[in-house]
Amino acid sequence: MSLSSGKVAGIISTGRALPVGKITNFDLEEIVETSDEWISSRTGVKERRMMIREETNSSLSTAASQIALERAGVKPEEVDLLIVATVTPDQPLPSTSCLVQAHLGASNAAVFDVVAGCTGFLYGLHVADQFIRTGAARNILLVGVDTLTPVIDWQDRNTCVLFGDGAGAVVIQPVEKERGVLASKMFSDGNQAGLLYIPAGGTSAPANHLTVENRMHYVKMNGPEIFKFAVKVMAESTLKVLDMCGKKPADLDFLVPHQANIRIIESACKKLGLSMEQVLVNIDRYGNMSSASVPVALDEAVEEGKFKPGDLVGLVAFGAGLTWGASILHWYG
Ligand code: UT7
Repeated sequence: MSLSSGKVAGIISTGRALPVGKITNFDLEEIVETSDEWISSRTGVKERRMMIREETNSSLSTAASQIALERAGVKPEEVDLLIVATVTPDQPLPSTSCLVQAHLGASNAAVFDVVAGCTGFLYGLHVADQFIRTGAARNILLVGVDTLTPVIDWQDRNTCVLFGDGAGAVVIQPVEKERGVLASKMFSDGNQAGLLYIPAGGTSAPANHLTVENRMHYVKMNGPEIFKFAVKVMAESTLKVLDMCGKKPADLDFLVPHQANIRIIESACKKLGLSMEQVLVNIDRYGNMSSASVPVALDEAVEEGKFKPGDLVGLVAFGAGLTWGASILHWYG
């Protein structure tokens, strides 16, 4: 096998799947001590989607994937690598990617999950790009999916107003540099693991009546610390990858940031000198969908005809770990 295919990863098509259940800020006013005014002004979220009935992480992933595959003209059995980026798998074992593989009939794919908090899609894209650059894969299906509503503490107003469920998928193929990933980078700092975590349900604290009584299966978060960190690394990592490919913020046509808080997005864009017209925002309708934020925003932008072939697009995200990452690509079109 050659170590370089001479090609880079190109996003050939996109798809998304969102649960039908919707929770507005006014619904939340009935559940916890909060208000539409506080949530809208402090976060930018107006409503979020929530799985109901038979919907699962893997069913949303499958639905988003089917759309992306159909649009790319790729049959499930032609996929040679399937990556699912998620922190909310259907179950601890096996990986969600195995379940999605079975639902799709992607019988010739190697599959694995990427667990990198809300940065999962960016991590997955970086990994996919390495497989393409080395010639180890030709048809990659990358899913960014998270279903956080079952692991949110609906008694904790600090977290329950923020998150929503959703899935986005992309088909990635080898393309010339002018139509694909120019540079990407993954970062992490495990010393900050305690800022965003779920204490129980793993092997250090398996589920028992005490973990349930103490609400240890729900997300715990230090919001203000993550906020400060996020503003810093969103701008820094975008600048870093721009620099890696000899570009500047002014060269960007669009930035697609992780959607955690509109104030984080605005502050990061201010630091980068970008106008909000260049930035894709959907947090008002979906809240923070973790790994799904970026691919869902991409799919909506494609549907709206926002991107022209060759546009320079930046992707950037941060999340539990802490992890963060950024990518600069020429839009395939
Ligand atoms: O993908 C990564 C995941 N996480 C994040 O990105 C989180 C990043 N952090 C944030 O987005 C913000 O820190 C939050 C939205 C979580 C919180 O906003 P904040 O402006 O940092 O508020 P705060 O935590 O400093 O709290 C300010 C006040 C507090 O009241 P007191 O102590 O000043 O009386 C909170 O108790 O706001 C109160 N508060 C609320 N009030 C009404 C916190 N949550 C709520 C709420 N409704 N939902």
